[in-house]
Amino acid sequence: MVVVGGFFGDEGKGKIISYLAIKDNPILAVRGGAGPNAGHTIEYNDKKYKVRMLPSAFLNKETRLLIGPGVVVNPEVLLKEIEEFGVSDRAFVDFQCGIIEESHKKADSYGRLKESIGSTGSGTGPANADRAMRTLKLAKDIDSLALYLEDVPNAVNFALQQNEKVVVEGTQGTFLSLWHGTYPFVTSKDVTASGICSDIGLGPKNVNEVMIVFKAYVTRVGTGPLKNELSPEQTVAKGWQEVGTVTGRTRRAAEFDFDLARRAVMLNSATQIAITKLDIIFPECAHMDSFKDLSSPAKHFIKSIEDNLKVQVTLIGTGPDVNDIIDRRESD
Ligand code: GTP
Ligand code: IMP
Ligand code: MG
Repeated sequence: MVVVGGFFGDEGKGKIISYLAIKDNPILAVRGGAGPNAGHTIEYNDKKYKVRMLPSAFLNKETRLLIGPGVVVNPEVLLKEIEEFGVSDRAFVDFQCGIIEESHKKADSYGRLKESIGSTGSGTGPANADRAMRTLKLAKDIDSLALYLEDVPNAVNFALQQNEKVVVEGTQGTFLSLWHGTYPFVTSKDVTASGICSDIGLGPKNVNEVMIVFKAYVTRVGTGPLKNELSPEQTVAKGWQEVGTVTGRTRRAAEFDFDLARRAVMLNSATQIAITKLDIIFPECAHMDSFKDLSSPAKHFIKSIEDNLKVQVTLIGTGPDVNDIIDRRESD
């Protein structure tokens, strides 16, 4: 199963992946996507975790956590997370992951990238530029990562051959893709399902399910177009205000965009949809775990998504905690 973002990132992929890790018990969780520009916030049993480099599946202690060669790694951020989450025996980085250095962070923190593109300042874009120039250092060149090196494509494909469950974690969102997004206001990689699979060395015939995650409304941090964008006052009035995990910036917001969603389903060949934050637009649905208990307007909203996009909504987020979820994969 590959999990990707359907809008502009921050759809709540971290929470969805945490849930899948606990519920489905995958042997591997593998991170594709750009780099530490991503930020997931995960809430579980009154604890809050912020994660930028490791896969969000760390809550399941049985799951091995891998980072694919297409991801650029900031060793400092990664080692801190490995320590914080106590996963040094089950975290692995591919030999060929690119390494973000101080110079990349610096180049990402001023001028055009910062001001015009609204980059996160994490060094991800400049590191990917150096990778294209073939000057970037790789994980195998870095002493501090020696203990964690692994052939990730081999591990992923071997696990699948053994019929083991693997969750592949995408970051950012479809319209931040360098190829398919709102260029130039995008990240430095393709972040659709095909790109994420390429990041970890997984061929197109070996993917069974693609789960696309949409928030019940659209948010965007940084610059770039956002159709039907609400004013900051309208955003607050609706209770849709959010602050970015990595940069602390306020997220811009708009209503759910069916046209964008339809295109995202096409670009990712999505087979399932997860909708997060249903509780924010329908507060009466907060913390519910059964579809039949949802209010009529909430049910109608989910049905309109399924009718419009022709893909089943299998997971529905009803609160920030990993347990605040409706799982329709087996029941109703
Ligand atoms: P990126 O990889 O940066 O795109 O991150 P992400 O997709 O993991 O999303 P991020 O964690 O940045 O933002 C989502 C926020 O929504 C987090 O603070 C989550 O705790 C919260 N969240 C996720 N699902 C739900 C939900 O169903 N209801 C509510 N109320 N909050 C949710
Ligand atoms: P960069 O990837 O840091 O260069 O940022 C480029 C653009 O993508 C900016 O508008 C960022 O705000 C946005 N962006 C990058 N990563 C994320 C993410 O994980 N969530 C949301 N927006 C992101
Ligand atoms: Mg985020």
